[in-house]
Amino acid sequence: MIKGFIFDLDGVITDTAESHYKAWKKLSDDMGWNFDHEVNDKLRGISRMDSIQVILDHNNTTLDEKTLATLATKKNDIYVTSLETMTPDDYLPGAKELLTHLRTEGFSVALGSASKNAIKVLQQLNASGYFDVIGDGNSVSKSKPEPDIFLYGAEKLNLQPEECIVFEDAESGIDAAKAGGFHSVGIGPKDRVGHADLRFDTMAEATLFEIKSYFKDLF
Ligand code: BG6
Ligand code: MG
Repeated sequence: MIKGFIFDLDGVITDTAESHYKAWKKLSDDMGWNFDHEVNDKLRGISRMDSIQVILDHNNTTLDEKTLATLATKKNDIYVTSLETMTPDDYLPGAKELLTHLRTEGFSVALGSASKNAIKVLQQLNASGYFDVIGDGNSVSKSKPEPDIFLYGAEKLNLQPEECIVFEDAESGIDAAKAGGFHSVGIGPKDRVGHADLRFDTMAEATLFEIKSYFKDLF
C-alpha cells in the first residue's frame, strides 16, 4: 500500500532549472566555455560538483580540485542571489495543489533533493510545512542515480521503498528511484523520464486522482 510520497525539488516543485542554467552560463561565459540548454538538461538531478565535471568534459577541459571547488562556489553565489526573487507564487502549476491534497489525505511526504540550497528554496516558496522529512544535498554522500537520498527519506518516514512514490524530473532521479525499489512518477518528456512507472508532461496533470487511478491496486 502507498503511504508516502518523496518529491524531488528542482523541476518538480519549482522551476529552478533556468536559474541554475543562468548561473552556469555566466560562469561558462567568464571562463570561455561552451554551455547551452542541452548541456544544462544533463545537469538535472546531479550534484553541484558532478555538474561542473559534466561542463568541463563537454569542453574537453581539466582543472585541479581546488580550482573546481572555487568555480563551483562562484556559480553557487550567482544561483543563491537569484533565489532572493523567488516567492510563494513560483510553484510549478499543480505542485502546490498536489502537496495540499496529500496533506489533507494524511499521506507522509518527504523531500529528496540533491540540492544543498533546498531549505532556502522551500523557505522562499513557504513550502516547508508540506514536508515531514527534508532530505537534501547535505543528507547523503552518494547522489542520484544512486538511490541513497530516497532511501534516506523513506527511512525517516518509517516506510519501505515499495510504500512510497517518488516524483522526479531527472533521468538520474528516475534511475535512483528504480534502483531503490520505489514506485516512480516522471515529470517531463519521454526521452528524459520515459522509464518512470507513470509519466506526465507537467505537474499540472499530476493530480492525486490520476495517480490513484494508475496505481489503483496500491491504494
Ligand atoms: C538538483 C538540480 O536538484 O540539485 C541540479 O536538479 C543541481 O541541477 C543539484 O546541480 C545541486 O544543487 P545545488 O543547489 O546544491 O548546487
Ligand atoms: Mg529535479
